[in-house]
Amino acid sequence: MPKEKEDAAPKKAAGRPAKKAPQLLRGFRDILPVDQPYWRWVRNTAESFAAGYGFEEIGLAILEETSLFSRSIGNQTDIVSKEMFTFIDKSDGSLTLRPEATASVARAYITHGMLNLPQPVKLYYWGPMFRRERPQAGRQRQFHQLGFEALGDDNPVIDAQLILLAYNFFKALGLDGISIQINSIGTPQARHEYVKELVGYFRSKRKLLPVEEKERLSKNPLRLLDSKDPVCQQLRADAPQLMDWLDDASKTHFMKVIEYLDELDIPYTLNPYLVRGLDYYTRTVFEIWPGEQEEGAQSALGGGGRYDGLIELLGGRPTPAAGFSCGVERIILQLKARGIALPHQDTAEVFLAQIGDAAKIKAVTLFEQLRTAGIRTGESFSKDGLKTQLEAAHKHGVQYVLIIGQKEVLDGTILIRDMESGVQEIIDFKKTVAEIKKKLANGSNSGQVNGL
Ligand code: HAM
Repeated sequence: MPKEKEDAAPKKAAGRPAKKAPQLLRGFRDILPVDQPYWRWVRNTAESFAAGYGFEEIGLAILEETSLFSRSIGNQTDIVSKEMFTFIDKSDGSLTLRPEATASVARAYITHGMLNLPQPVKLYYWGPMFRRERPQAGRQRQFHQLGFEALGDDNPVIDAQLILLAYNFFKALGLDGISIQINSIGTPQARHEYVKELVGYFRSKRKLLPVEEKERLSKNPLRLLDSKDPVCQQLRADAPQLMDWLDDASKTHFMKVIEYLDELDIPYTLNPYLVRGLDYYTRTVFEIWPGEQEEGAQSALGGGGRYDGLIELLGGRPTPAAGFSCGVERIILQLKARGIALPHQDTAEVFLAQIGDAAKIKAVTLFEQLRTAGIRTGESFSKDGLKTQLEAAHKHGVQYVLIIGQKEVLDGTILIRDMESGVQEIIDFKKTVAEIKKKLANGSNSGQVNGL
């Protein structure tokens, strides 16, 4: 009998469950400490942009009534028809882990009577979203978005400023050369007429379409325009063009947005096939790509647009709005792929080493003093050997190591070693915090040599 089976047999006989470690769910990830500097940096940058452009942060519920998303995003969309994590709760009916946050922002605007605030209400959010998609690089079932929404204003300058914000945000992260694709999909009425034409056209070509696209044709025909399928892409060139069906007001709105973008010198690409995968959009829609869009690539960094009808659709007063959101995991993948170095992170400034029991007690107390003085201090209190502690200090990359041993405890002193120059000095223990502060402020070792 193979060894494994031998081991397994007695456990089973004893009725104990097999010891299989719990697994992460497919498409879900932990964000480990090693990656946190990237997360912190993207979040800090987003927050500083929110502050700079006057967006206030909102924390939104992660679980909502399913109908919020089916009404907002649309029953026939991929998100609602295939990708939501939905379950029946004991008392609250059908609930869904949010697949995106715009619907929740619109709900929150109504819930909290934000129409009584000065308009536009400008909101920023950050948090996890959930879509039951097939996982692959840059596509997860739990992912994070940061987003900006401006509610209560239909002026095209809002659309342009959101695109400007997105463009500058990516530039600030070091992601140059991003491509902004932009289009207008008009009002639902104009689109309705257009879709009739589009369906007529694609029906005449139905035989040529693969099964999945045939399904699109009957359920969500607009998506035939941004299909990845090569046959569809060929056929769409001769299809009726959405721009020709736009109502005059939407056309004027779009022209204005374009004018602003030109004035602001923001590079963009007009993409007549950009329709987005959510039903709530009206007029301007846009997407942010890492570079010129590669055929079949699955890696839009962000997307957004106007959703002038959404708040009314959810039972609020008619309220125009626009916004966009970006996938944080995809941003971080780009930062890593381009080898972009993060700016200085909050690493330790000094390291505190100790030798012997009496020194350990003094060191723990001193650590508290350093910490409360705002000096980032590394330590390995559970280790006793100086060599191990100096190795740890080296890993921290600190310039100064504070060493306290038996002799220093008796003398009431402490030794400071400059790791760059190797110079050591002995100072009065009570003056440690002040002395270290001075050294860090000077950025150089100005002390005496070898304890003299
Ligand atoms: P979206 O295009 O569905 O738009 O998602 C925005 C971004 O979220 C995408 O461009 C992508 O970077 C990221 N993303 C989406 N799905 C995944 C996934 N499965 N894994 C990793 N990242 C993903 C919206 O969600 C709209 N709420 C945007 C918006 C805001 N429109 C108006 N305001």
